[in-house]
Amino acid sequence: MIAGILGVPESDFARFRDWAAVIAAAINLPVSGLQEFVQRADQTTSELVEYLNWIVTERRREPRDDLISSLIAAEASEGKINEKELISTLILLLVAGHETTVNLIGNGTYALLQHPDQWKALVGDPSLARNVTEELLRYDSPVKMTTRMAMEDVEIVGNRVRTGTEVIFALGSANRDLRAFEAADRLDICREVGRIMSFGLGIHFCLGAPLARMEGEIAFQTLTREAPGLRLGATQPDWRAGLVLRGLQSLPVTLQ
Ligand code: HEM
Repeated sequence: MIAGILGVPESDFARFRDWAAVIAAAINLPVSGLQEFVQRADQTTSELVEYLNWIVTERRREPRDDLISSLIAAEASEGKINEKELISTLILLLVAGHETTVNLIGNGTYALLQHPDQWKALVGDPSLARNVTEELLRYDSPVKMTTRMAMEDVEIVGNRVRTGTEVIFALGSANRDLRAFEAADRLDICREVGRIMSFGLGIHFCLGAPLARMEGEIAFQTLTREAPGLRLGATQPDWRAGLVLRGLQSLPVTLQ
């Protein structure tokens, strides 16, 4: 989806998915072998930059109705970003817009299949898909944490944070805060979800939140319509090991 919006030719979607996965794996702060992940991501980034330089040259020559052409126009006529920023923005959009949404759909499907009554309710009423997406974003946050650097001494809930200290915000944990959500550990696709932390907060709030919500809604609606007989398989799913992103490696299912 994100590669399409950027304007990458469909024949290159699979390469983009692989590049995004390698870079995301390093950003995910794997619990072991970080050095190896970073080396692979460096190598992949070089390939990706080369490809993006090529496509930017193409779009400069012949603009199209796509995001790459719009960003080039911002660079050329409005002088808002320079060439280096253009390429790094494209990489950010690709990586931030891919793995996260994949995890929303994967984690969300797993959560629904673990709660057959909730799955059945969505199969019976696909118009619930928007609220389902919001609840699934809350229940199993695709991004587990974000960080901020304190620019001055502050106090956060009784804890003193000194200037220059990096603070980790556990987004998934905040989404299960009993002070904010009634019976927070319960999946309830009909609840009035309220304010979730899955997309962060403040000036860096996720740029792609509306797109991600739309993708989730369409995905869960389509899945329940096309495969209402989906059930969990006999073997346990595999989770990717990492500190930042929460996502499945595989989800064995059966179709009844
Ligand atoms: C379910 C899907 C997604 C989740 C859970 C998610 C989550 C997040 C989070 C937690 C942040 C950091 C916010 C902060 O530090 O306060 C973020 C930032 C960002 N996201 Fe997403 N995201 C998703 C989808 C997308 C998509 C589809 C795109 C692209 C179209 C995107 C683009 C970005 C960008 C560009 C930023 C950086 C914003 C900034 O630093 O100003 N995200 N996202």
